[in-house]
Amino acid sequence: MKKILFVTSEAHPLIKTGGLADVSGSLPKALAELSQDVRLVMPHYQAIKTHGDVRFLCSVRVDNRDVNILETRMPDSPVIVWLVDYPEFFDYPGNPYHDEQGNDWPNNAERFALFCRIAAEIAMDRAHLNWKPDLVHCNDWQSGLVPALLSLEHDRPVTVFTIHNMAYQGLFPSSSTAPLNLPGQLWQPYGLEFHSMLSFIKGGLVYADRITTVSPTYAQEIQTPELGYGLEGLLTYRKEFLSGIINGIDTEQWNPATDPLIEQHYQAESLQDKQLNKFALQRKLSLPVDEHIPVIGLISRLVEQKGIDLLLECLSEMAGMPLQFALLGSGDKVFEQRLLNFAHSYPDKIAITIGYDESLAHLIEAGADIFLMPSRFEPCGLNQMYSQRYGTLPVVRKTGGLADSVVDAVPETIGNGTATGIVFNDASAGSLMEAIKRALILYSMPDIWKKLQVNAMKKDFSWQRSAEQYLELYRSISLHP
Ligand code: ADP
Ligand code: GLC
Repeated sequence: MKKILFVTSEAHPLIKTGGLADVSGSLPKALAELSQDVRLVMPHYQAIKTHGDVRFLCSVRVDNRDVNILETRMPDSPVIVWLVDYPEFFDYPGNPYHDEQGNDWPNNAERFALFCRIAAEIAMDRAHLNWKPDLVHCNDWQSGLVPALLSLEHDRPVTVFTIHNMAYQGLFPSSSTAPLNLPGQLWQPYGLEFHSMLSFIKGGLVYADRITTVSPTYAQEIQTPELGYGLEGLLTYRKEFLSGIINGIDTEQWNPATDPLIEQHYQAESLQDKQLNKFALQRKLSLPVDEHIPVIGLISRLVEQKGIDLLLECLSEMAGMPLQFALLGSGDKVFEQRLLNFAHSYPDKIAITIGYDESLAHLIEAGADIFLMPSRFEPCGLNQMYSQRYGTLPVVRKTGGLADSVVDAVPETIGNGTATGIVFNDASAGSLMEAIKRALILYSMPDIWKKLQVNAMKKDFSWQRSAEQYLELYRSISLHP
């Protein structure tokens, strides 16, 4: 059994802004099911929703600050959660990373540096918790300084750093470095420095014993200038230590046979019941209730990564076709407004919900027929897997985890029973439109469509296999080769 400290800045259902939370909520649980002793550490934001007891454990002093560590648990699991409680940095309302206008909190460097300091103290068992991990698994830039700090310690745990998204690197002006009081030897080009800026993600990429990312294809893509954001050289240099492990999904939470957030349960054997969810969705969004019209869904952060600009270019043409479109998301204000304008012009065709709404997300997965993910890049992506599990066939761009988890419906894959969606190549509105048309043609052939739905629903996206791959990786790391 390994003792694993999982370091993350969000975890579902405590707090979530995106897929990192889904992974942090479900991978530690899956590792615990494989008999590992996993504990999670994350900041104690005001918006955190804890379930059950939260108790004060101890106070740790770093950099003249007294930081509390609180303990709670992940719901329905043995996984212990340690909350880093420092009210001056974390006890205010809203999103973990930015204000309501989307501006980063001005003290993010200090906030997450303190978080990393505490995680490193816990990892070295200097926080009076009486538990020293064998391995520290860090996620994304917010935890990037942990491998860097640990690299300076003797008798330290081994470290893994998982990249969930290279587009977010935690870059700060070098002037913000001094107040962080970081050990001077980390400040160098083969260190935390990136073109005279402080780079949190480099702490993970340079110093972690192993780097992973959330799909095998993305592990290759980030070694190219297009998706490496200037770090492709470093990643290529470390490629021997870099691998891709595709995310799993929480198959209890995302299960159409038991989902409490949908109108009617169904499974591959009772696909006709899926329709009641379609009606419920149409009613909820004030779209005409129509069993035959294909409903296309999309749930996403509304940012360039997700190909929202491509979708916007397609919407006028889509509005002229026999379909309905249901989108849920929030993000870029310009995208939000342009989408709302379309809903205003075509109220019978296009329903746009701006905001974050977990129940509606589940109902869209269950009620839509087709799900769009035209991402420009996608490290893994979770909704294409949720969609397949709900028999809602995804239309995805061939990139990152989308390429690794959806099998394009062409005669051969339809014939051999492996097709589960529609995959297109170019990041262009024309290719997206063509893919949507291809989906609609398949939808108009009920026998084939149903076959594809069943293929998709029967696919195994559970965490078990991926958690086993992580475990294998953990076991392969030793400090003294
Ligand atoms: P990313 O992490 O890049 O945002 P993922 O596909 O990995 O993309 O994960 C996104 C997660 O966030 C999914 O669980 C998705 O359902 C959820 N999500 C995104 N936007 C919303 C929203 N507006 N309301 C509810 N859930 C959302
Ligand atoms: C990131 C990526 C997304 C991935 C998620 C969880 O937010 O954008 O593709 O699924 O992390 O790993």
